Amino acid sequence: MRILVTGGSGYIGAHVCRLLRDRGDHVVVVDDFVTGIRDRVAEFAQLELSLAEPGAADAVAAFAREHAVDAVIHFAGRKQVAESVEHPLMYWHDNVAGLAAVLEACAASGVEAFLFSSSAAVYGDALGHVAEGAPCTPVNPYGASKLAGEWLTADVARASGLRATSLRYFNVAGAGWPELADTAVLNLVPMVMERLAAGEAPRIFGDDYATVDGTCVRDFVHVLDLAEAHLAALDALAGAPSSTHHVFNVGTGTGSSVRQVVEGVRARWPNSAPDSPPVPAAVVEPRRPGDPAEVVADPSRIAEALGWRARRTLDDILDSVVGACD
Ligand SMILES: NC(=O)c1ccc[n+]([C@@H]2O[C@H](COP(=O)([O-])OP(=O)(O)OC[C@H]3O[C@@H](n4cnc5c(N)ncnc54)[C@H](O)[C@@H]3O)[C@@H](O)[C@H]2O)c1
Repeated sequence: MRILVTGGSGYIGAHVCRLLRDRGDHVVVVDDFVTGIRDRVAEFAQLELSLAEPGAADAVAAFAREHAVDAVIHFAGRKQVAESVEHPLMYWHDNVAGLAAVLEACAASGVEAFLFSSSAAVYGDALGHVAEGAPCTPVNPYGASKLAGEWLTADVARASGLRATSLRYFNVAGAGWPELADTAVLNLVPMVMERLAAGEAPRIFGDDYATVDGTCVRDFVHVLDLAEAHLAALDALAGAPSSTHHVFNVGTGTGSSVRQVVEGVRARWPNSAPDSPPVPAAVVEPRRPGDPAEVVADPSRIAEALGWRARRTLDDILDSVVGACD
């Protein structure tokens, strides 16, 4: 297949590009490199472009035609919850207008298959095991922009014949290759590693939740499992009827507590020299507002429809990134 990947130089996009290349697909990338890293996609044809700028749809359509693209995977977007609260217009503009431009380019260039990066943030404050039919009530502009993106994709699919899938990622972590590891410090594992690298104690926000050890519980999915879910979804789209839009959770179905993750990183932290100071122990701070106690994917739908299941564990995730930094 010939696949155009937007945001291919980002953390998740780069993993998917590599798996596609490894199985013999032809990959081309559209990215403005605002958070992506050029070296991750040096081997692929590229169009450097900000998707939310005027004229983007025409430029992407021309690039897709030039490379005879069959399918588009749309990762490009902004993903920082706190930033979205401060700059909602930027999030609606980049995440929704950017998506609209890509969908317009698909129509103009005859691309019929489309994958959209959505997020468990669409569920807002949901608790426990969350299936796709749970109410979607996002609690920040980032989550709202992802839900709007799903709706836009569904509307366009209905009207145009596009075959589309939105994947709602849970907590993505780990690395398939050290050079593709997440360089942003926005999620728990990189945050703990950053503190330890500075010789500081990792922080746990609240240990009095009604969970297994009192700390928040989340569903951590290995980025390679997530990347494989994209390949499964893409392959399924090839045989799907036109005008379809499916939504799938991508998670493991198993929760891990914040304390488990912190202790897992600490246990792997290199301090082998005889005079090394001990690895700092975690400190517990007050709860952060808006953190639900437990959010875990119900991944039954994607298992039944696509045969995809996460194969890697929290230990695999931590081994892939903590071991890679010494
Ligand atoms: N990482 C996660 O935990 C997570 C969870 C749920 C959903 N997602 C979604 O997955 C997607 C990829 O996330 P990631 O972790 O790889 O993020 P990332 O920041 O590493 O990658 C995003 C990529 O998109 C590019 N980009 C951003 N805005 C652009 C624009 N307007 N035009 C062109 N390129 C643009 C960036 O340069 C970068 O290469 C995002 O849409 C994100 O919202 C990520």
